[in-house]
Amino acid sequence: MEDIAANPIWHPFTQMKTANPPIHIDRAEGSILFAKDGKEYIDAISSWWVNIHGHANPFIAKAIAEQALKLEQVIFAGFTHAPAIDLANNLLKILPDSITKIFYSDNGSTAVEVAIKMALQYWHNQGVHHKTKLIAFENGYHGDTFGAMSVGAKSTFNAAFEKHLFQVEYIPTPHENNFEAVKEQLKILLKNEDVAAFIFEPLVQGASGMLMHNPEHLDALIQLTKQHNVLCIADEVMTGFGRTGKNFATDYLQNKPDIICLSKGITGGFMPLGVTASSQKIYDAFYADAKEKTFYHGHSYTANPLACAAANASLQLLLSDDCQSQIKNIISQHTAFAASQQHESFIKEIRQTGTILAIELNTAEGSSYFNTIRHEVYDFCIENGVLLRPLGNAVYIMPPYCVTSAELNKIYQVIKSLINTFKEKYASPH
Ligand SMILES: Cc1ncc(COP(=O)(O)O)c(C=O)c1O
Repeated sequence: MEDIAANPIWHPFTQMKTANPPIHIDRAEGSILFAKDGKEYIDAISSWWVNIHGHANPFIAKAIAEQALKLEQVIFAGFTHAPAIDLANNLLKILPDSITKIFYSDNGSTAVEVAIKMALQYWHNQGVHHKTKLIAFENGYHGDTFGAMSVGAKSTFNAAFEKHLFQVEYIPTPHENNFEAVKEQLKILLKNEDVAAFIFEPLVQGASGMLMHNPEHLDALIQLTKQHNVLCIADEVMTGFGRTGKNFATDYLQNKPDIICLSKGITGGFMPLGVTASSQKIYDAFYADAKEKTFYHGHSYTANPLACAAANASLQLLLSDDCQSQIKNIISQHTAFAASQQHESFIKEIRQTGTILAIELNTAEGSSYFNTIRHEVYDFCIENGVLLRPLGNAVYIMPPYCVTSAELNKIYQVIKSLINTFKEKYASPH
């Protein structure tokens, strides 16, 4: 641990006054982070969900090194390069058939920002000026830029900016008990024919506590929106690249989105990269002689060749038999652990989608990101050599696919022992 006052850095999502000094990591390998003070941590959350193949993967590292000696960066307007072309083709091979174009940027929030702008301009370019509304799920998180904040849930995180966020219509995430009501609510919103797009995190709403819904319900909502000529944007920034057990969460859906946002796992955690993938009809609405129909959006590091090279290597690993069977192993080990915990009274709900396992603790305070148990659980796990970063009272595991059975078992053991440690102090009396 270091002296926080001597730290020149302002960390993200961190109250610098009350936070512990950051843990200094010297190196990492596979699922393990090695700290400067000699301690080791299993990275059970793939470092904010990005390191799908673990850390310092030599195959990806080599691909970046080779690319760096060839071409490290080039302006992406008027120029192109092999890593970007290859990646676009590689992605199109595994994305739904309806998706035909790849637009690059450099992080998840921006991938969403681009999607929103594409959807709004899609209608604008066709002279349809009344379709300007966006529909989103309650409890969504799509990033920290202004458009992404606008379509996300309103919370403490964005309260200071509320006046500057555009208005969005929210519908609850569907489940067995509210499905018919949600459909009715959506039908009413769609009646005015003024909705431009519906944005959602498919199957798992990550940052809001790993809330999960089933594909049939989402499919039905997408179908309804499509009947009303509304564009659908799937934010797969977290769910993409095998997290849900398939390459993409939208692979579970019959009704495919018009736009898909990707980032996080795309480069295996080596380089920042964002992708907004669109259907041909979106692209065609911008394809014109008229200059004003151009999509005037771009970033300096768009399609950075090192990031694209990392993504091509990461994709090759993801699609390998080894990685696919690892994903299956993680899924079945999670399922077995979940079953072993079903009678635990300090667990309110245990839910799983693919490699993501969320354990919602049954705390008296209820479910909230600011639940006081969060910090204690985080510190407890760190002291026990596991990086878990609960979302309020929801502890979740989202491991790198290279995690070993021994490492997974250690993570499960730490969760069992945190349950025993905090049960008495925090349990709900009911
Ligand atoms: C679903 C979703 N969309 C967008 C983002 C924003 O991505 P980034 O942090 O790369 O800006 C996140 C980040 O957690 C996310 O989970």
